[in-house]
Amino acid sequence: MLETWWRGAAIYQVYLRSFADGNGDGLGDLAGLRGHLGYLAELGINAIWLNPWYPSPMSDGGYDVADYRDIEPIFGTLAEAEKFIEEAHSLGIKIIIDVVPNHSSDQSAWFKEALAAGPGSAARKNFWFRPGRGDLPPNDWQSIFGGPAWTRVPDGEWYLHLFAPEQPDFNWTSPEVHAEFHDVLRFWFDRGVDGFRIDSAAVLIKDPDAEPDGKDPYTDRDGVHEIYREWRRVSDSYGGRILIGEVWMPDQEAFARYLRPDEMHTAFNFAFLGCPWDPAALREVIDTTMDTHAPLGAPPTWVLSNHDVTRPVTRYGRADTSFGHDDRKHGMPTDLALGTHRARAAALLTMALPGGVYVYQGEELGLPEVEDIPGALLQDPIWERSGRTDRGRDGCRVPIPWSGEAPPFGYGTGEPWLPQPASWAQLTVEAQSADPGSMLALYRKALLIRGAELGDGTMTWLDLGPDVLAFRRDSGLTCVVNLGPDPVPIPAHSSVLLASGPLAGDLLPADTAVWLR
Ligand code: GLC
Repeated sequence: MLETWWRGAAIYQVYLRSFADGNGDGLGDLAGLRGHLGYLAELGINAIWLNPWYPSPMSDGGYDVADYRDIEPIFGTLAEAEKFIEEAHSLGIKIIIDVVPNHSSDQSAWFKEALAAGPGSAARKNFWFRPGRGDLPPNDWQSIFGGPAWTRVPDGEWYLHLFAPEQPDFNWTSPEVHAEFHDVLRFWFDRGVDGFRIDSAAVLIKDPDAEPDGKDPYTDRDGVHEIYREWRRVSDSYGGRILIGEVWMPDQEAFARYLRPDEMHTAFNFAFLGCPWDPAALREVIDTTMDTHAPLGAPPTWVLSNHDVTRPVTRYGRADTSFGHDDRKHGMPTDLALGTHRARAAALLTMALPGGVYVYQGEELGLPEVEDIPGALLQDPIWERSGRTDRGRDGCRVPIPWSGEAPPFGYGTGEPWLPQPASWAQLTVEAQSADPGSMLALYRKALLIRGAELGDGTMTWLDLGPDVLAFRRDSGLTCVVNLGPDPVPIPAHSSVLLASGPLAGDLLPADTAVWLR
């Protein structure tokens, strides 16, 4: 029997560097995380997904992996990671880790060997080394982080990096690369991890020598699916450990092809994440999601935030609530009270939908995006690569406020690697635990109900007018969200299980969601 827990799971994303600092260096670590496992168990989540924890020069927050089989010393040791997996399992929490197959760090043994071995060597064939066109790079591809996608090495060749220069792309036409990653998956499955989140999963196959064919030169190219078929055979051989794709792709049919029964188990629903706070747009995304997943038997996922995107209370507090991952809208006027009000409603919508749900650390506290981090402290490579025009993603990576009245808010004893706003005193776990009306209290109650009767299954729309999203789940629970400007009547029910804000008698106010029996 293969495992199925993931079909309806609530998965909590831990950005380790910013979760809790156990040793006073200002950077989160495994000791800090282990110290707060009780908090996560109490929150009612089923699994933790950790961003990369491998040894890394941290040019891109750990997405530049120097060694896929060890733990970054800032975070702890391999022995500690094994202990952590055991402890989480004993609390009934599964562990998902990140794997980064598109690129390594330029400090990985493989890349250093390739550099030293020189042009034409076997070691260079595991990356994309090419001669240039005179003083120009081999082609004009641009890096996703800005600037050219090629960097020249002292012997004159250039190597490809879709992201930062410190992240050379692997060449997936090399059988050695395939074998290496099968072995990496096994290494961690043998240590008990329950699955992988696959970074940049759709961009592994590319041919920089080919003439442009009018399609995206590196997204969703032929051959990429074969990689995940191979991986699925590895994960199935471990009794059904899971593969979760980071697949950013507007074409939902193409997206769903990654979820065929012999490929990944699930993938992040970025169409939902990027959707504006608008009833028609949300309904369309939800319908498309259900329609493309159902024929494959794959459960959808629902995501409001992660370590790459502007936090929801900020996004929903702006005049334009849409979001594109290269259109962060930094510095737009924001009404945080409105944003928070909507984010509460969005949380109830998201957690009621059929399938799995992700909660990014701090989302349950309603943390806003921090938009005034001094430039000198920003660490996201996007800041420098964009010529300091795009402040990047550090604003959603600010360390978590746990307790107390002033920074570092119980995060650790050292100075946090990014400054926490003083106003977060009201948003600490401690403060919110004492307040039944807090965002944290809402997430706790919602996750509890969700664990008992939501998750995997089906939904039936109810028609309550164009401003309202309303649907019934298999258990009979009905979710009603009012996205219009005026209060609407609440449909007949025997009890109100949970509401995102105060109700007005029999009316559901604007930007409010309710779960009914
Ligand atoms: C993914 C990660 C992001 C990282 C990029 C390159 O999009 O989520 O944080 O910068 O891949 O690895």
